[in-house]
Amino acid sequence: MDFNKLRSDFPILSQKINGYPLAPCDNASTTHKPQSVIDAIVHFYTTTNANIYRGIHLFAEQATQMYENARNKVAQFIGASPQEIIFTRGCTSGINFVVATWGRENINPGDEIVITELEHHANLLPWQRLAQEKGAIIKCIPIFPDGSLDLSRLDSIINHKTKMVSVIHVSNAVGTLVDIATIIARAQAVGARTLIDAAQSVAHQKIDVHALGCDFLVFSGHKLLGPTGIGVLYIKKDLHDSISPYEVGGGMVEDVDCIHATWRKAPHKFEAGTPPIAQAIGLGAAIDYLNNHVDFNALALYEAQLCQRLIDGLSQIKQVKILGPIEELKKKGHLVSFLVDHIHSHDVATFLDSRGISVRAGHHCAQPFAKKLGYDASVRVSFYFYNTMEDVDRIIGAVREMVL
Ligand code: ALA
Repeated sequence: MDFNKLRSDFPILSQKINGYPLAPCDNASTTHKPQSVIDAIVHFYTTTNANIYRGIHLFAEQATQMYENARNKVAQFIGASPQEIIFTRGCTSGINFVVATWGRENINPGDEIVITELEHHANLLPWQRLAQEKGAIIKCIPIFPDGSLDLSRLDSIINHKTKMVSVIHVSNAVGTLVDIATIIARAQAVGARTLIDAAQSVAHQKIDVHALGCDFLVFSGHKLLGPTGIGVLYIKKDLHDSISPYEVGGGMVEDVDCIHATWRKAPHKFEAGTPPIAQAIGLGAAIDYLNNHVDFNALALYEAQLCQRLIDGLSQIKQVKILGPIEELKKKGHLVSFLVDHIHSHDVATFLDSRGISVRAGHHCAQPFAKKLGYDASVRVSFYFYNTMEDVDRIIGAVREMVL
């Protein structure tokens, strides 16, 4: 599969930065958008623009259909039923939704919530606050020094006191691929619920929520070629009746009087107010693009080749320390983080930017992880299918130039 041919579908990639062709290597932050996604959003506002489920005029009905088509596409993409797909603002709001609804209703004093030391703040802070409010306990599955998970004590960490296991699928800081099948199986064995944060995985590997057997799964649209402002929360059907709405308001009520209200069925019960209609349509177009152009097995191989070339090149530079489970990243990674001796990561990123290469530097919103590994900021190169081997060689060349 020749992924490089797809570059021309992304108008932003024809730009030059400081006179250099753009090497877009900050895809774990957000991916770029193909013209078809941009067109879908423009088309909606140009031809249809109406609120959904509220009008009986032509545009209102068309908009409702377009929004529900997008939900169907998302459902099919991750192996869910359409009513199990809730549109949110993003990955963070999906986790906050679960914590504020299922969490508030089911977590009691002394209960345990299990996360990992890899979590980014979105999958830590909401649980931390809930645990403080409820007198519950947060437990972490620890990491080895290379950032891979130590599952050797999984059976004692996830035990009969565990009510929720909420884990990241792929680390946004160093790219560790978490063995969620083993973790979900252990959680199920003790009757705990599971939430998978798929923000960094859903754009890179095929996910099937029913095969995984998780209770909740979240991701954001903008890391999947879609627009910002749209996220997906999968809630397993069995839980729909026992979970209260996160927000209440227009669009989600069945019947209401001044004292009482009853809710519509999921997913509508969980989507109060005007939802992000154009964004959902944009996300649907992004999924169409992926279905039409990207084979996920070929993508995984290609991204691993990019990682391998970068790791091999950077390993030759003695001032560079590569973080993460290096051998695993060479086989199935899509991002690489590193440090450069005596040069702050922000300065490295600034230098790379001066050469037209965009990367992220910092703690990547995963401070506990960075602290455990003993750094305050790393340089993170994160790939997608439109990256080229030339992008990789330019990064290696620029880092060499910097340490000379
Ligand atoms: N979670 C995003 C990142 O890792 C913002 O960059």
